[in-house]
Amino acid sequence: MRIVLVGPPGAGKGTQARRLVEEYGVPHLSTGDMLRAAVEAETGIGRKVKETMANGGLVPDQLVIAAVIERISQADAARGFVLDGFPRTMAQAVSFDDLLDTEGLALDHVVELKADQNVLLDRIVTRAREAREQGGAVRPDDNHETLKARIHAYNEQTAPLVDYYRSRNILRSVDGLQPVEVVASDVFRAIGQGRSVI
Ligand code: AP5
Repeated sequence: MRIVLVGPPGAGKGTQARRLVEEYGVPHLSTGDMLRAAVEAETGIGRKVKETMANGGLVPDQLVIAAVIERISQADAARGFVLDGFPRTMAQAVSFDDLLDTEGLALDHVVELKADQNVLLDRIVTRAREAREQGGAVRPDDNHETLKARIHAYNEQTAPLVDYYRSRNILRSVDGLQPVEVVASDVFRAIGQGRSVI
């Protein structure tokens, strides 16, 4: 099963990806997590992308595409994957489709999580507050100013992918404003695996 989750920051991509990977036994490929790990480890790539991520911009396409290609070539991705946060630009989407095509593969579903932008801000502020209360690290991009930049990047560069995948007949849209378990049920139903998780 090859699934892409697309949606604005805080829409619930990571939350729903964790449920899908548990169900299908395929890896969760979050480009945000991969990049944050590189920043944390202070690798060459991490140093290059740190400021862009902290400012809420998108890191260069070539860099992300190369990281995803390398990751999906690993054995655990042979049966599929759940991509969370990639592709995020038309260039990434087209390159990725070309790559899959070359391998005789294709995406099964692209699930769009739709969410109102005021709710996104609440969720991000809550996540930052809970991390602080638990003594954990707060994501440097989880603040009001940077969230505005992340939403702008989504609207300008990622939202057009919705029409792209709709035209390829693999887009499923789900209301991401519902409680987590209801969203999960709708996601499974949307990809033709109707099952209640409530
Ligand atoms: P990334 O890590 O992908 O961040 P994001 O897209 O901004 O999304 P989030 O992780 O904040 O939210 P999410 O939709 O996963 O929601 P979550 O489940 O966590 O990217 C970070 C940065 O990396 C980018 O800005 C960019 O710089 C760079 N980057 C990454 N990929 C890139 C790419 N392909 N190209 C270029 N640059 C790239 O939920 C959020 C919160 O809401 C949680 O607290 C959760 O508990 C809560 N929540 C979730 N669902 C619900 C619900 N239904 N009801 C109530 N609360 C909910």
